Amino acid sequence: MLILGIETSCDETAAAVVRDDRTILSDVVLSQLEEHRPYGGIVPEIAARAHLEHVDRLVGAAMAQAGVSFADLDAVACTGGPGLIGGVMVGVMTAKAIALAANKPFLAVNHLEGHALTARLTHDIPFPYLLLLASGGHCQLLAVLGVGQYRRLGTTIDDAAGEAFDKVAKMVGLGYPGGPQVQAWANKGDPNRFALPRPMKGKPGCDFSFSGLKNAVRLLVESRPAPLSEQDVADICAAFQTAVAESVADRTKRAIALFTQNWPEGKHLVVAGGVAANTALRGALEKAGAAGGLTFLAPPLNLCTDNAAMIAWAGVERFRLGLVDGLDFAPRPRWPLDPTAPKARGAGVKA
Ligand code: KG4
Ligand code: ZN
Repeated sequence: MLILGIETSCDETAAAVVRDDRTILSDVVLSQLEEHRPYGGIVPEIAARAHLEHVDRLVGAAMAQAGVSFADLDAVACTGGPGLIGGVMVGVMTAKAIALAANKPFLAVNHLEGHALTARLTHDIPFPYLLLLASGGHCQLLAVLGVGQYRRLGTTIDDAAGEAFDKVAKMVGLGYPGGPQVQAWANKGDPNRFALPRPMKGKPGCDFSFSGLKNAVRLLVESRPAPLSEQDVADICAAFQTAVAESVADRTKRAIALFTQNWPEGKHLVVAGGVAANTALRGALEKAGAAGGLTFLAPPLNLCTDNAAMIAWAGVERFRLGLVDGLDFAPRPRWPLDPTAPKARGAGVKA
């Protein structure tokens, strides 16, 4: 079975061809980093226009690299949401047009399901497993029980983890996206020189919060002589990264307890999303997993961040179960994986 996947929900235009034997025949990603850099964040209209400009060429490149034609495909999958709606519309229209012209089934994939199922593409693990999804837009702990079957154990009540990294980077004068730079500076810093809170640590439940920590960093920056010295930047980054890692590890430990109690057959703790690139966080999660009896797994970095191979793979998993969509599918700006989960409340909550 051969599926074309298209991803356009954020600031990466991506296309990939994946086979049901878990072979990635092609996987092309075009980052819009340079288009958004002058604004210090993603501008939705610029993103939508850039997707429109590049998506046909990327699909063409993915098909050429895979050495297949539209006629060889079994179905066409795209991200149907959640995400920046202008971009999602571009991907959905493109996928529908190809499906219609080539007379192939159309699959609208939940972007979060793409992230959630990636570990089955890369490591072939069975359901159920525990997933931490930490990206620029999301921070959730999910029990992944099957295709289309998710229980949300925790979510952020304000900012996403990646968003906090990006905002802290801005505060200390580092560029966008902030995560990789904060990590690089943290490596040169002393995490113990400045005291920062460990948000939610020890609190009941598995929810996250990062806005208080972000504010604490802002106050800390304001209390230092301007401009910040290089040592101050490094030490602030180190203190912040350690606080995030400790907070996320604490929340994850609680989720592991809940998960292993309810689904004792589950053996894996999986991480996905751009923040999964953070080595301090990975180290903390690996420890938390081992202590709770779960094996820690992280897909390779290029499959943790936004890509189309994960969308094509989710398409494979859904198509195998006969879960196809009609051409009347409407792009969705919001699309929770667990519709039964209560809405998170707090300042800045987006989903
Ligand atoms: O999954 P992703 O590529 O895009 C979405 O948000 O969907 O995640 C991007 C986020 C950004 O906020 C970026 O700053 C963060 O992941 N990130 C990191 C690191 N690399 C990327 N955060 C912390 N440490 C890193 N090494
Ligand atoms: Zn994503």
